[in-house]
Amino acid sequence: MLILGIDTSCDDTAAAVVQDGSVIKSNIVSNQNEIHQKYGGIVPELASRKHLEMIWPVVHEAMGSADVDFKDLSAVAVCQGPGLIGSLLVGVCFGKSLSYVNDLPLIAVNHLEGHIFSAFLEDNTPEFPFIALVVSGGHTSIYRVNGFDDYKEISRTRDDAAGEAFDKVAKLLDLGYPGGPLIEQLALKGDAESIPFPRAIMPTSLDFSYSGLKTAVLTHIKKKTGSSKEDIAASFQAAALEMLIKKTIKAAGQEGINRISVSGGVSANSLLRKKMKERAAAEGIEVYLPSLNLSTDNAAMIAAAGFHHFNKRQFSNYSLNPRAYMPL
Ligand code: KG4
Ligand code: ZN
Repeated sequence: MLILGIDTSCDDTAAAVVQDGSVIKSNIVSNQNEIHQKYGGIVPELASRKHLEMIWPVVHEAMGSADVDFKDLSAVAVCQGPGLIGSLLVGVCFGKSLSYVNDLPLIAVNHLEGHIFSAFLEDNTPEFPFIALVVSGGHTSIYRVNGFDDYKEISRTRDDAAGEAFDKVAKLLDLGYPGGPLIEQLALKGDAESIPFPRAIMPTSLDFSYSGLKTAVLTHIKKKTGSSKEDIAASFQAAALEMLIKKTIKAAGQEGINRISVSGGVSANSLLRKKMKERAAAEGIEVYLPSLNLSTDNAAMIAAAGFHHFNKRQFSNYSLNPRAYMPL
């Protein structure tokens, strides 16, 4: 069964064709980094306009490189939310049109569910139940995933998402956008122990908080202590990652589960990947990480989750609207 997935939740226009929820036939992503770079963050209006320009070429390329025709598809799966409303609107309207014109069932997918299901596009997939850390520019949450459509949120961020903190600190350091990969590169040359930035470890909660860390970096920069950008990047990154690793492993312990998946843009961070695996191995926990191109936003993950909706006959009609806020 072939499903066309579409994701326009943020600043990437993405389309992919996936077979049986697990085999990627094509996975096309057109990013808008060049447009948003000079603003140090996403400008929503510019993002929607670019999606409008790119959606057809990206879908066309996804169909072409999978070498399939619309009549070969079983359904169109589109990301309904959460995300930027103008961006989502482009993908949802396009998905509805494709579904109508080609007489294909329409499936609405939650972006966070998509990130979780990116784990099923790899050869080694986790068995249910597993603990899923979804960590991106818009979200930082831990879920217990009992099965498809059966998710329990264990914790979430109380303020900023981890990726958002990476982006904001990169802006403070004048590095550009997106901040995550730039901070990661700079941190390689810095001393992670040089500045003791705070870690929000709440004794009675597995919730996250990144605003204090972000403010601490801002205050440190304003104090003009003479720290190098490399040391600030490395010390910030160490603090940001430690919270993710400690809380996810603790959640697994609390739930008595020895499988963790990590997905979302920040899961592309090599230090996070390495340290999460090391610390988890010490506790007898296996970590499932999507390949780098499936960590950040993509539409293969939407098609993968869409496959499970198809099997449960969970289809949408043409009154489907995007949702900026859409808890799992
Ligand atoms: O999942 P994603 O592509 O989009 C959202 O759903 O938000 O995540 C994008 C976020 C951005 O904040 C970006 O800075 C962060 O992921 N990111 C990283 C890395 N690569 C991307 N953060 C830390 N290290 C990275 N290597
Ligand atoms: Zn995402």
